[in-house]
Amino acid sequence: MTPTIGQYPAARFRRLRKSDALRRLAQENALSVNDLIWPMFVRDGVNITDPIASMPGVSRLSVDLIVKQAETAATLGIPAICLFPYTDPDKRTEDCAEAWNPSNLANTAIRAIKAAVPHIAVMTDVALDPYNINGHDGLVRNGIILNDETIEALVKMSLAQAEAGADILGPSDMMDGRIGAMRAALEMSGHRDVAILSYAAKYASAFYGPFRDAVGAGSRLVGDKKTYQMNPANTDEALRLVQRDLTEGADMVMVKPGMPYLDICRRVKDAFGAPTYAYQVSGEYAMIMAAAQNGWIDGEKAMLESMMAFRRAGCDGVLTYFAPRVAQILHNGG
Ligand code: PBG
Repeated sequence: MTPTIGQYPAARFRRLRKSDALRRLAQENALSVNDLIWPMFVRDGVNITDPIASMPGVSRLSVDLIVKQAETAATLGIPAICLFPYTDPDKRTEDCAEAWNPSNLANTAIRAIKAAVPHIAVMTDVALDPYNINGHDGLVRNGIILNDETIEALVKMSLAQAEAGADILGPSDMMDGRIGAMRAALEMSGHRDVAILSYAAKYASAFYGPFRDAVGAGSRLVGDKKTYQMNPANTDEALRLVQRDLTEGADMVMVKPGMPYLDICRRVKDAFGAPTYAYQVSGEYAMIMAAAQNGWIDGEKAMLESMMAFRRAGCDGVLTYFAPRVAQILHNGG
């Protein structure tokens, strides 16, 4: 019997889902180890692994062990790692001077990593919160977060990191004008090839909680970060921020958090075509891990699905605490 129009579906999308071979052939996006940036936490001491309760599987490591972890990253083919310091409480002050101490924890770790694993890209955090007595990313006077004074501090911090051998500076502070100031300072001091990955569209988010535990800034934080981080209700503003940061000299831009902001990733990528990264932040990691540990979701599948979602949304890469596990799975053939 010859079927007539209307008796069968006009298109059978299921044909290309029939087998693994056809699914692979029709797949639009792919995940690669080249898309990963692995954030890690460094602390003082020797041979110390200090677990972070709200981030199962993630620990603050002393410099010797951070170097080992950087070696693991290199072995896995992960192109870049990102360092966040847990600063000794005694070294947290109102002026945040420890932030630009050439031999602070972060800079010591950069030097040690670059000596042991020179070809891995080391990204830093440029913000004052791990050094600030009140947990803010900027200098505070009379309860006000000071923009321009903070930029001067961030420039000093950036130069110390560049001097220590950082490949990528990651300003996560959201002060206005810091990219231009950092870029000028890098150019004038001979650090022309140091890249800036701007936390351009960074939202005032509830998903940063576990990170603030990890760097010891959460319990210190006075008030909130809404006067400098973005309102989660805004989209157009993200595009204007990205444009501004690219114009000021950023090489790469970031959207943060990741999963709840995939619409922003897509708009940023479409509008500028710049190297675009998402930060799958600590709270996103904690949610997946907690649900997985309860047996409520398959953690590994959820992790990989989230990675693919970032690629689909136009991201060139993802900062994620899952980086080593994702890399391992990709090495074993996905
Ligand atoms: C602060 C900073 C934060 C993160 C990276 N840098 C937290 C904040 O803005 O309060 C969050 C990362 C994460 O949650 O994984 N400079």
